[in-house]
Amino acid sequence: MVVLGIETTCDETAAAVVERPESGRGRILSNVVLSQVAEHAAFGGVVPEIAARAHVEALDIIIAKAMAAAGCSFAALDGVAVAAGPGLVGGVIVGLTTAKAITLVNQKPLLAVNHLEAHALTSRLTDETQFSYCLFLASGGHTQIVAVRGVGDYVQIGSTVDDAIGEAFDKTAKLLGLGYPGGPQVEKEALQGSASRFSLPRPMAGKPHANFSFSGLKTALRIEAEKIAPISETDVRDLCASFQQAVVDVVADRLRTGLRLFREGFGSPTALVAAGGVAANEAIRKVLHRIGFEAGTTLVVPPPELCTDNGVMIAWAGAERLALGVVDSLDAAAHARWPLSDVKSRSATAPSDKPA
Ligand code: KG4
Ligand code: ZN
Repeated sequence: MVVLGIETTCDETAAAVVERPESGRGRILSNVVLSQVAEHAAFGGVVPEIAARAHVEALDIIIAKAMAAAGCSFAALDGVAVAAGPGLVGGVIVGLTTAKAITLVNQKPLLAVNHLEAHALTSRLTDETQFSYCLFLASGGHTQIVAVRGVGDYVQIGSTVDDAIGEAFDKTAKLLGLGYPGGPQVEKEALQGSASRFSLPRPMAGKPHANFSFSGLKTALRIEAEKIAPISETDVRDLCASFQQAVVDVVADRLRTGLRLFREGFGSPTALVAAGGVAANEAIRKVLHRIGFEAGTTLVVPPPELCTDNGVMIAWAGAERLALGVVDSLDAAAHARWPLSDVKSRSATAPSDKPA
């Protein structure tokens, strides 16, 4: 089956066409992503209103490009998948309304996909990962350890109680006067710095649960920077290296516990899968590799362009649902919040919304 996927939940306007055969590997027929990073950079983060307007301006063109690159007509599609949340709801509405219009005009099934579910299922497209596997989702908006047991069968093992991991990188970068998004900048500076110069906390380390916390780490970093202000280039590098080492240590500790809890609840995972923009960080990938090895499983990381937000993952998640006969009605709602645990494999009912 061939599915168009549309992604507008944050600051990427994306569309892609993916083919899911009945057996064997899926195929990416096209993948078009327009990043809004430049429009938000001056503000040091994503501005929801700017994002929604940019999606309105770009989405039709991005979809047309994806369809043309795939050599596909709307009539040839088996379904149209769209991220219906969680995310910045203004942008989600732009994508969802567009997808509904396409399905209505062309009489195709609508697949209102959960954005987190799409991240969770991507490795099945790239690596044919079999259920059940342990997912570490680490992006600007999410930090979760999830048992992925089947399409629509997700059990959260741990999550952050405050900031997301990418958000911690972005806030650190902002504090140190580095650009946005901060993750790649902090990683670059850290390469040349001393990780042992500043002693920063390892929040949640050693706890029996698998939750994360990053707000204390961010505050500790700010205090260290204030102590030595004005900070030099060397100070920035050492602060970045010390921060990244603290994050790496926390990730190692939390994943070790998360994998133990996974095994206790669901047996051995087929893989440890990393997704989200933070999975691009070399130091984090390295430690995940080690933790996976120690736990007797292997690390799977989809290529960077499929770890960050894209339309391919939405199309693929839609195709996985369509293959099970799950479709959504035209009154599917946009959701600012939509926990993975509320995603069902056989239901198109709306989850209960909490305020964002
Ligand atoms: O998945 P993503 O593209 O977008 C969402 O947040 O959904 O992730 C972006 C996040 C940003 O916070 C960015 O700073 C972080 O991923 N990131 C990194 C790296 N590359 C991107 N964090 C640490 N190291 C990196 N190399
Ligand atoms: Zn994402």
